[in-house]
Amino acid sequence: MQKIALGRTGLMVSRMALGGYPFGGVNRANDWDPWSLEGRRTAIATINRALDLGINYIDTAPAYGKGNSEELIGEVMKTRRADCVLATKVKWEGLGKQDIIDSVHASLKRLHTGQLDIVQLHGGMFTAEEYDHIINGGPLDGLLALQQAGDIRFIGLTTEEPWTARPFLKHPEFTVLQLAYNFIYQSAARNVLDEARAGDIGVVTMRTMTSGILQRAARYLAPEWLTGSNLYEICLKFVLSDSRVHAAIVGMRWPEEVERNVALVEGFHPEFDFAELPRMTAHVYEAEDKE
Ligand SMILES: NC(=O)c1ccc[n+]([C@@H]2O[C@H](COP(=O)([O-])OP(=O)(O)OC[C@H]3O[C@@H](n4cnc5c(N)ncnc54)[C@H](OP(=O)(O)O)[C@@H]3O)[C@@H](O)[C@H]2O)c1
Repeated sequence: MQKIALGRTGLMVSRMALGGYPFGGVNRANDWDPWSLEGRRTAIATINRALDLGINYIDTAPAYGKGNSEELIGEVMKTRRADCVLATKVKWEGLGKQDIIDSVHASLKRLHTGQLDIVQLHGGMFTAEEYDHIINGGPLDGLLALQQAGDIRFIGLTTEEPWTARPFLKHPEFTVLQLAYNFIYQSAARNVLDEARAGDIGVVTMRTMTSGILQRAARYLAPEWLTGSNLYEICLKFVLSDSRVHAAIVGMRWPEEVERNVALVEGFHPEFDFAELPRMTAHVYEAEDKE
């Protein structure tokens, strides 16, 4: 699995990361229960398989199953912590400095580690007031105190609405940005990725496979597209073809899912840089004329 420097953190990460959400959420439709004995065993096998196949970046959050995802990953970290870059998150709404410190200390325990590589403010859409609260109301101070104590290495934030992350990028403390960016939701391409690259921020995508939305739409609109893993392949290769993205987080439940996605990424060398796409669409008629 190819590795890449995660912006100015300098952490060398695999281009595909393992998303921790499935280890926190029950999914009856998929007969998936990460609290059951069988579900726990499968989740642990999936995490081990990912590490075996060269995925060295794991993303989780205390909010995923009220700590269940962190606990399952922690089981594997008991023996394999050195094999990966470990990222988790922290809630911040209405919380102050000490709440942040307490939350991260609880994550350290569940993850069976003395230090986290990346801790991200777990965000959706940041309003101006929320930005002010994070910077001046305690959350950032909490993260800086943890960094100073050696509990965490790098500070990041996650966002569903990428343009709302822009004000944070002027603060040098933030070195990792996890954002929603995929084949059907491309706001990041126009609204923040250029700034992130200019600041040498580590960029990872979440909802890489559209969280199944594209696939659900295809079921109704073009069921013939659903054969094989074409739609997943397009999604994965799309974000990895944008040179402003370092790694793509993918939610994977089963070891076979890991194997399938690793096979898609391994040896993949993009032929086109989708960082060019917004400019291309702006000049699409001009390009047509030339061609
Ligand atoms: N910071 C945040 O607020 C936030 C929000 C969302 C996600 N995230 C992070 O990003 C990660 C990924 O996002 P996500 O889990 O929402 O969605 P995703 O990666 O877009 O989609 C994951 C789902 O796609 C399916 N899948 C993946 N590869 C496949 C393949 N080759 N063939 C068939 N199906 C495949 C699986 O669904 P089935 O198992 O159902 O088949 C899997 O659960 C999360 O786990 C989490 O770590 C963070």
